[in-house]
Amino acid sequence: MVEAQRKLYIRTFGCQMNVADSELMAQILAPEYVLTPASEDADLYLINTCAIRRKSEEKVKSLLGSLRPLKRRRPQLILGVGGCVAQQEGERLLAFAPHLNLVFGTQGIYRLPDLVRRASTGERLVDVALKREIPDLPQRHWSSDRFQAMVTIMRGCNNFCTFCVVPYVRGREHSREPQAIVNEVAAFINAGGKEVTLLGQNVNSYGRGLSEPVTFTELLQRLDDLPGLQRLRFATSHPRDLSTELIHAFGQLPALCEHLHLPVQAGADRILKRMNRGYTAAEYLAKVAMLRQACPDMALSTDLIVGFPGETEADFNQTLDLMRAAGFDQAFSFKYSPRPQTRAAAFPDQVPEAAKTERLMRLQALQNELTLNSHARLVGQEREVLVEGQSKRSPEELSGRLRTNQVVNFSGPRELLGCLTRVTITEAHPHSLKGRWVPPASTSSMQEED
Ligand code: 5AD
Ligand code: SF4
Repeated sequence: MVEAQRKLYIRTFGCQMNVADSELMAQILAPEYVLTPASEDADLYLINTCAIRRKSEEKVKSLLGSLRPLKRRRPQLILGVGGCVAQQEGERLLAFAPHLNLVFGTQGIYRLPDLVRRASTGERLVDVALKREIPDLPQRHWSSDRFQAMVTIMRGCNNFCTFCVVPYVRGREHSREPQAIVNEVAAFINAGGKEVTLLGQNVNSYGRGLSEPVTFTELLQRLDDLPGLQRLRFATSHPRDLSTELIHAFGQLPALCEHLHLPVQAGADRILKRMNRGYTAAEYLAKVAMLRQACPDMALSTDLIVGFPGETEADFNQTLDLMRAAGFDQAFSFKYSPRPQTRAAAFPDQVPEAAKTERLMRLQALQNELTLNSHARLVGQEREVLVEGQSKRSPEELSGRLRTNQVVNFSGPRELLGCLTRVTITEAHPHSLKGRWVPPASTSSMQEED
């Protein structure tokens, strides 16, 4: 009799990069472990962690604590913590959680099979080595029902924004070879894939240090040339490194979606300088203007931090002014959270929590207005949608995304799941749109004749 395969459960916190890393963990462990959606059944339980703000780190620690009873019931369970908190805390995590078997950092993923084998003998291990190279892995297997994929094109960051822990926990920037990326995307399309999101902390600096120097725009061009790729997206861009070449790729490369996530962080030059961002508000807005000129349909999203050390009421008002001037379609906003090792954590003029909370509320109220305006402008228009699943609120409806990244819910046949179709936007809501399905031309003319 074949021995039942051991089961792997992964809990993921944080950004898309972590979601992609969790997939990589499952891929690397696939010869020995099969993924299970039920944590109770797991033989190996991995937590992929995020250290970007203190809150995300606290969530990890509280989950770890809550797993004590499971480990008591199943002493053979191997419990591992990976990712950014693991990288940051290392040995300290083993001391914090005596039921923990394994701590592996952001690059320990590649060494997981060996680490897990050793942990299964009872050894308690920490592997937080940060090496430069990214080993290229065997081709990923794409299942035929998969229509969206994230492809990591680079790891790490060299920017050292003064608030950010990423360069410390993910190490220096390193790009993957372009051919490996092209092959991975081609295999995905051949298996029926439609949409690819390229991932990296700062994709605009892709290509530095490669044996064959390739710019990010050239990589996009090579992917766009692959027949069958319907939608191409990427995250995240750094405004300083956003080239004119890339700006002009929007509206030119057919698969490249008209949406850019361009984190601005703040609107006052004084604060941007203290953040070490390398651009002024005017320079940022000049790039926004160029983008809108190159591609009038462009949707823009951003990240914003309120209450960075030294931020005054006047500085904060400049953030609101910049938001209005840029006309962001969507924004992710955060209260500044001091992180270990970062320069800003040691700045003397920390902003009180109450002021951060109050500013965040004002900022979010403004963004809600801007988002609703941008949604309202879409009403009456017919747009392409990639159907991603059921609507969250009403499961009898379908839910998808426009090329410009807004969520749209509409009634239509379930067979549309994973397909590109067309909708007319009928209603604008704060977080989504409502639409009416436009059946393909032949069907709609037949219906009209009926
Ligand atoms: N505090 C608050 N927000 C942060 N971000 C990064 N570091 C911090 C921090 N220390 C935000 C930035 C970044 C996003 C991913 O998280 O806005 O773009
Ligand atoms: Fe962090 Fe700045 Fe690098 Fe983005 S660019 S990951 S904010 S250090």
